[in-house]
Amino acid sequence: NPTDLLDPFGRKHDYLRLSITDSCNFRCLYCMPDEPFKSTPSIELMNSQEIYKIARVFVQKFNINKIRITGGEPLVRSDLETIIRQISTLGASIGITTNGVLLHKYFDLFEECGVKDLNISIDSLNREKFKYITKRDLFQTVWDNIKESIKRGFNVKLNVVMMRGFNEDEIPEFIALSHHYPIELRFIEFMPFTGNSWEKNKVIPISEMLSLVSKHFTYEKVRDHKNDTSRKYRINSESKGVFGLISTMSNSFCAGCNRIRITSDGKMKNCLFGADEFDLLKSLRNSEDLKELIQLGILKKHKEKGGQFSEIETLKNHAIINRSMIKIG
Ligand code: GTP
Ligand code: 5AD
Ligand code: SF4
Repeated sequence: NPTDLLDPFGRKHDYLRLSITDSCNFRCLYCMPDEPFKSTPSIELMNSQEIYKIARVFVQKFNINKIRITGGEPLVRSDLETIIRQISTLGASIGITTNGVLLHKYFDLFEECGVKDLNISIDSLNREKFKYITKRDLFQTVWDNIKESIKRGFNVKLNVVMMRGFNEDEIPEFIALSHHYPIELRFIEFMPFTGNSWEKNKVIPISEMLSLVSKHFTYEKVRDHKNDTSRKYRINSESKGVFGLISTMSNSFCAGCNRIRITSDGKMKNCLFGADEFDLLKSLRNSEDLKELIQLGILKKHKEKGGQFSEIETLKNHAIINRSMIKIG
C-alpha cells in the first residue's frame, strides 16, 4: 500500500524532480561551473531502466503524482524517447524543464505521451545577449520552439533568471509577452551554486522587480496555487497570460515545499540547497530496498534552507558545499 512521503515537519512530498543528465548543449554562466566542465561518465548515470524503476517506486509506493524531468538539458539524452515512454506509463503528470533548443524533435512524442508542462529558459530577448549568457547563437531556434509550444497548446512557462546589469532593462518586453501569449512568464532571483558567477549585488529581489514592472505597467494579483514556486500577477484582465516572480533568495517558499529530487547519478536530494544525498542508484544496483532508504532520507529533510542564505558568508559556504545547478536539476 502506498504511503505519503512525509518529512518531520509534516510536509507531504508528491512532486519528483528527476534529473536525467548533467550534460548540456548550452553553457549558461549562471548555471555551469567555469569550464572545463566534466559531465558524469555514463556508467555512473542512471540508465533508462533504472530511471524507470526509481520513478516507479516514488509513484507506486509514495503517491508521487507529478514528475518533472530536468537536467542538465534533458533533451540531449539519446534515449529520451524510451525514458519518456516508460515514465508515461506510471500515470503521474509529466513536465519538462528545458533550454528549448531541441524541442522541435520531440513535440509529437510529448503529445503522444501526455507531457503537458514545458518550462523553457529564455534569459534575454536580444540575440547578442542571449549568446553571451548561453555561449550559443541559438536565440531564434529557441524562440521558434517557444512559439510552436504555445501553438500546440502545451502549458508553457518561460524562465528568466534576472541578473542586475544584464537583463532588467528587458522587463517591459518580457512582461509584454505575458500579455500577448497564454504563458506564465517568470522572473527568477539569481541563486548561488558552486562555480557560477553569482554575486550578491547581481541578485534583484522580487520586490525590486515589481517596482521595475510598475514603472511601465499597472498590474493585479492572480491567485497562486498551493506549492507553486512563483507569485503570480497579470497586467490586466485582457492579458492572455500571467507573470510570476520566484523569490528563492529574498523570501523562500520552503514551508510549502512538496519536492524531492533525484540527480542524474541516482542520488536523492531533499533540497535544492541541501548537501545531504542518498544513493538510490547504488542501492538499486545492490538489489536493496529503495523504499526504506527513501523513508530514512526524507526524515533528514531540514525545515527551511532557501531562506537561511541571506548572509553573504553563509552563501559562500553554501556555494562551496553544494553541487552546481547543472548537477542538481
Ligand atoms: P513547476 O512548478 O513544476 O512548473 O516548476 P518550477 O517552477 O518549480 O520549476 P522549474 O524547473 O521551471 O524551475 C524554475 C525555478 O524555480 C528555478 O530556477 C528555481 O529558482 C526554482 N525552484 C525549482 N525547484 C525549486 C526548489 O525545490 N526549491 C527552491 N527553493 N526553488 C526551486
Ligand atoms: N539562479 C536561478 N535560476 C537558475 N537556474 C539555473 N541556474 C540558476 C541560478 N543560478 C534556472 C534555469 C532553469 C531552472 C531549472 O533553473 O533558468 O530555468
Ligand atoms: Fe524545498 Fe529546499 Fe527548495 Fe525550500 S529550498 S523549497 S525546502 S527544496
